[in-house]
Amino acid sequence: MKVNKVSKINGIITVPADKSITHRAIMLSSLATGKSYINNYLKSDDCLMTMNAFKQMGVNIEQTEDSLTIIGAGINGLKNPVKEIYAGNSGTTTRLLSGVLAGQKFSSTITGDASLSKRPMKRVIEPLSLMGANITAKENNFLPMTILPKENLKAISYTSPVASAQVKSCILFAGLYADGTTTVTEPIKSRDHSERMFKTFGADISVDGLSVSVKKCNELYAQEVTVPCDISSAAFFIVAGLIVPNSNIKILNVNINKTRDGILTVLKSMGADIVLDNVRTVSGEDVADIEIKTSRLNSTSFGKEIVPSLIDEIPIIVLAATQAEGQTVISGAKELKVKESDRIHSVASQLNKMGADIKETDDGFIINGPTKLKGATVDSFDDHRIAMMLSIAGLIAEGETEILNSDCVKISFANFYEVLKKICK
Ligand code: S3P
Repeated sequence: MKVNKVSKINGIITVPADKSITHRAIMLSSLATGKSYINNYLKSDDCLMTMNAFKQMGVNIEQTEDSLTIIGAGINGLKNPVKEIYAGNSGTTTRLLSGVLAGQKFSSTITGDASLSKRPMKRVIEPLSLMGANITAKENNFLPMTILPKENLKAISYTSPVASAQVKSCILFAGLYADGTTTVTEPIKSRDHSERMFKTFGADISVDGLSVSVKKCNELYAQEVTVPCDISSAAFFIVAGLIVPNSNIKILNVNINKTRDGILTVLKSMGADIVLDNVRTVSGEDVADIEIKTSRLNSTSFGKEIVPSLIDEIPIIVLAATQAEGQTVISGAKELKVKESDRIHSVASQLNKMGADIKETDDGFIINGPTKLKGATVDSFDDHRIAMMLSIAGLIAEGETEILNSDCVKISFANFYEVLKKICK
């Protein structure tokens, strides 16, 4: 994809539905008794992988343009998937599903694409094994991963070494099948969509600070869920609105869950003109319209405490920091190395090609700004969030920016370039 410098961006837009919430809604609806409706679900490759996995296990899922109707199989009603379950590029599918599969009476194998096959799975294999699951994986850490049948899992109290919602949610899903009360404690709170939605579907779940406990479950109940738009997708346009001169944009119906809104806190601390309007609650999640105006940004520094609430937004925050006055230091973000690409390297190497001054560190970045960006040929490393961040960089870079391997935007935001075109003046 080629992107050129623009003089301003303007308009009212919506971005696709939240990816994390869509995955969870499909999973819980599939395990519930009765017919669930999921409105405004995310139609993206990642969520398709979750849908296909449950279809393969006998769940009836009807898909229209705006909604899913899922006739749940019941908590103990999944069928043997027969062949391998292909999770594509999706870490969330793999890790959450492994928790469900650990509780089944059939064996299953999960495979993935080249990127997913390099991502660590020991973080879920370890706690699931403590619960009694029998799992084999390549080098005990990588896909393909085979989960052998298990009659009864046992509840555990697990302290997770990483602040990861995928690990937490995996254990909670397995906890639905484990005798007793399963508790998972995280070092820092990660996104809490699972906790909220487990409760909605009738699971016996409770939260106590950094610990979440779930009891064995005999039945989940079908629901109607309306998925808000994804702040991780909105993030690209929030930063675009701030750094492209003379801009004013509004993004409607964005999820502003407290465990996801770190980007708003950080950008506001940099001097961003961001206003939340029409704040409301939809299907147990906080939602707002977000208005953004071009702003003079100052540098900032942040570390591990806030990182889980903005983990997927760090690439676009780094771009904002290249336009801010002063030195920005981001630390405590080592997890970026094991995302869809090594995001510390992909962000720094590609933005530096465009003229940014970014130093990679072991757990983050040191960014000196402001720097003028110039068009270049850059690579997404087949990582959707890198492709979108580089495209926004292209809006302020002198000349033309070519983003190689930009097709991967379909992992989370299939119409990204259409929305971008709509607001570019
Ligand atoms: C996700 C959790 C995050 C995030 C990912 C989606 C989820 O991963 O990066 O895009 O839906 O639970 P970790 O929890 O592993 O950090």
